[in-house]
Amino acid sequence: MNTVLKDKNIVIGITGGIAAYKAADIVSSLIKQGARVKVIMTRNAMEFISPLTFETLSGNPVYYDMFSRSGAWEIDHISLAKWADVIAVAPATANIIGKVSHGIADDLLTTTIMATKAQVMFAPAMNTNMYNNSIVRENISALKEKGYIFISPAEGRLACGDVGEGKLAAIDDIIQAIADYFSRKQDLKGKRVLVTAGPTREYIDPVRFISNPSTGKMGYAIAAACASRGADVHLVTGPVSLSPPDGVNIYSVETAQEMYEKVMELYPSCQVVFKSAAVGDYRPETYQTNKIKKDNDQLTLTLIKNPDILKELGKQKKDQILVGFAAETQNLLEYAIKKLKEKNLDFIVANDVTKTGAGFKEDTNEGLLITCEGETIAIPMLNKNEFAHRIIDEVLKRSPRLIDKNH
Ligand code: CTP
Repeated sequence: MNTVLKDKNIVIGITGGIAAYKAADIVSSLIKQGARVKVIMTRNAMEFISPLTFETLSGNPVYYDMFSRSGAWEIDHISLAKWADVIAVAPATANIIGKVSHGIADDLLTTTIMATKAQVMFAPAMNTNMYNNSIVRENISALKEKGYIFISPAEGRLACGDVGEGKLAAIDDIIQAIADYFSRKQDLKGKRVLVTAGPTREYIDPVRFISNPSTGKMGYAIAAACASRGADVHLVTGPVSLSPPDGVNIYSVETAQEMYEKVMELYPSCQVVFKSAAVGDYRPETYQTNKIKKDNDQLTLTLIKNPDILKELGKQKKDQILVGFAAETQNLLEYAIKKLKEKNLDFIVANDVTKTGAGFKEDTNEGLLITCEGETIAIPMLNKNEFAHRIIDEVLKRSPRLIDKNH
């Protein structure tokens, strides 16, 4: 039960996909949690499910006609646009995403979306090939950049028989995403936060490098969570294939040395640092300017140490809160505490990367947050976005100097 949804005005937009029937559960769940729900259906959606279902569940008429008039003086798309605290389109087809991203407003749902100042969210559901089509991907990226929230589809067997990404997200995840929007605190407003993410690359020659499997997901989730809580976020990132979170300043780097320089430049003006990048500890002593040829049976590489960025931040620390990360394969607590002390950190997030659900490539994480006072807080297995919010919650609770009296 999410009390945060109580008395919120939520417009559910339903578009024409087979998952339209699942919107009944969304409406029903929102109503049970005390929200007020009005439903807009497209003509195509009505081919899949009857408006009567939603009228019954929401206790309100279902809107679909551009030219019907609910009141004597207001037209529906304007009154619904003003009434809504959130408009959530679920399921959202490639068509509605394409239309909104190009400013097309040719039916009640698109005109309402165009006219609203409320947050608009999309829960896409479509065939995997459609979802992966570069046109759809570009439309999603463009909308994300403009602040529209996307609730990613799940993977699984689709109605068309294909298996892959494109299944409407689980109902609970959709409800949670709407609730998260309402409970999004602005407790980092006015704070500058530095986040590092992803791997580094240590070049051997122009076409070869030493790196690690970090995907950057954890760091990007932290950056996005901080931004959603009002922070001015500066994300220094190694090479990853993730879209930059909305409203975050991005600095792309490749090597540990480049990361070191950018981080040191930004550090003095930041109040909090989340150092989640998987930095290469060593780099080749010599960089070959031309591609190395396989002339010899053996090739010996001599590696030299890279700067320990976090350790340097610890040395130069004034009143910043420093949060380090320790990805370990054994002796988790012991190694993490050692790093916390040696690098003069305030907190360290320790996780055992050999555990299923807590590794580099996973969408979830689980771990321990250890404080410099010796407190250990277990963070359960959560998706990386929620894990990020939990880390921030716990860090803020224990960092009185970060708490803004105005919030
Ligand atoms: N880190 C860093 N610069 C480095 C190495 C690590 O800033 N050259 C940071 C990481 O971003 C992380 C923390 O230090 O926040 C711990 O990184 P990790 O790779 O777990 O540990 P190391 O200090 O490299 O020690 P070891 O490899 O011996 O476990």
